[in-house]
Amino acid sequence: AASYPFHGEHQSGILTPGPSGKQAATCVAAFDVTAENKTALAELFQTITTRARFLAAGGTPPNLGVSQPPSDSDVLGPVVPSDGLTVAMSAGSTLFDDRFGLADRKPLKLKPLVAFPNDSPDPAWLHGDLVLQFSANHQDTVHHAIRDVLKHTRDGMQLRWKIEGYNSPPRPSGSGRNLLGFKDGTANPTGTLASSLIWVDDPKEPVWAIGGSYLVVRLIRMLVEFWDRVSINEQEGMFGRRRDTGAPLDGTNEFDTPDYKADPDGNVIPLDSHIRLANPRTAQTANQRLIRRSYNYDLGVDLNGNLQAGHIFIAYQQDLERQFETVQKRLVNEPLVDYVQPFGGGYFFTLPGVRSQSDWYGRTLL
Ligand code: HEM
Repeated sequence: AASYPFHGEHQSGILTPGPSGKQAATCVAAFDVTAENKTALAELFQTITTRARFLAAGGTPPNLGVSQPPSDSDVLGPVVPSDGLTVAMSAGSTLFDDRFGLADRKPLKLKPLVAFPNDSPDPAWLHGDLVLQFSANHQDTVHHAIRDVLKHTRDGMQLRWKIEGYNSPPRPSGSGRNLLGFKDGTANPTGTLASSLIWVDDPKEPVWAIGGSYLVVRLIRMLVEFWDRVSINEQEGMFGRRRDTGAPLDGTNEFDTPDYKADPDGNVIPLDSHIRLANPRTAQTANQRLIRRSYNYDLGVDLNGNLQAGHIFIAYQQDLERQFETVQKRLVNEPLVDYVQPFGGGYFFTLPGVRSQSDWYGRTLL
């Protein structure tokens, strides 16, 4: 799409433009807030809103003449295209510490991400007071957007970590593939089911948080050289899906539904396969499902000459414990853990949408 609406009950870029139809390029940026009090924080949030509103719509930046620094980087030329840009803004639990007097407004389930078994946490890639995810049809649009926001918010927040991601088009059809070569996003809930699983509506939550969503970001390196030495049979057993079509091992098409009841011993889809552990498809586990909008990343080469590439796991849900943590705990000893290495990310709360021209991110929070 050329552009997505900026105003709405929920932020764009979570369900829009659709769980497996995400934009091709993304950037996830975490910030430490340096604003010193609540008034300065409100100014920061208003500035981010103004910039995000402009960038999502596109337009011609003001011409300040040649004797001053330009109002825009011109990375995208003199007219900024919308290019399908969405900006999703989320808060980490540290935003609700003593600095801004927001402790009693913290979303109920928000807390810092703690390391799971098999994680190798790297403090340089973890947490943040705020996270902005910029997604668009092209990487230069994403770069332009974060550069614009940074330029206008220098006195209120500082970049903590940032990672860029990309997504493959369907090859040959259906969901895009991740860097392990498997189609990713296939079994995501859609439509009203998706809405019922992600938007916070618990009356025990602070009123301002209704319509937001809990965000999990996990930066997961993939040991791709090691993976490429594994037989296709073994790879498919680890996921429970075919590598070529993306079909579950008991089906023929990508979107076929696996039938675990017909295969109680896991002879066709192994009991410890990723999809079977992640979603056992029972009545009791139905409310544990989440929405994934993951991207590939590439950070170059490590000290040993291996590719430093992997998966920006991005998941939205109503409840971190009921959904992400429950699923993650079931996955803890899956065979795939030998081929991946989680090292960063965090838990965040994606704010409800900016409703109108006079509204701004976090207005009802502050
Ligand atoms: C499904 C890849 C990490 C939760 C899948 C599928 C693939 C995949 C290929 C099957 C296609 C699909 O339905 O999208 C990966 C990779 C990971 C990773 C490469 C790490 C590098 C995680 C984590 C979680 C998770 C950390 C949550 C804790 C799920 C869920 C499904 C799924 C809920 C859908 C299962 C279903 O409903 O059938 N993943 N995943 N994944 N994954 Fe992951």
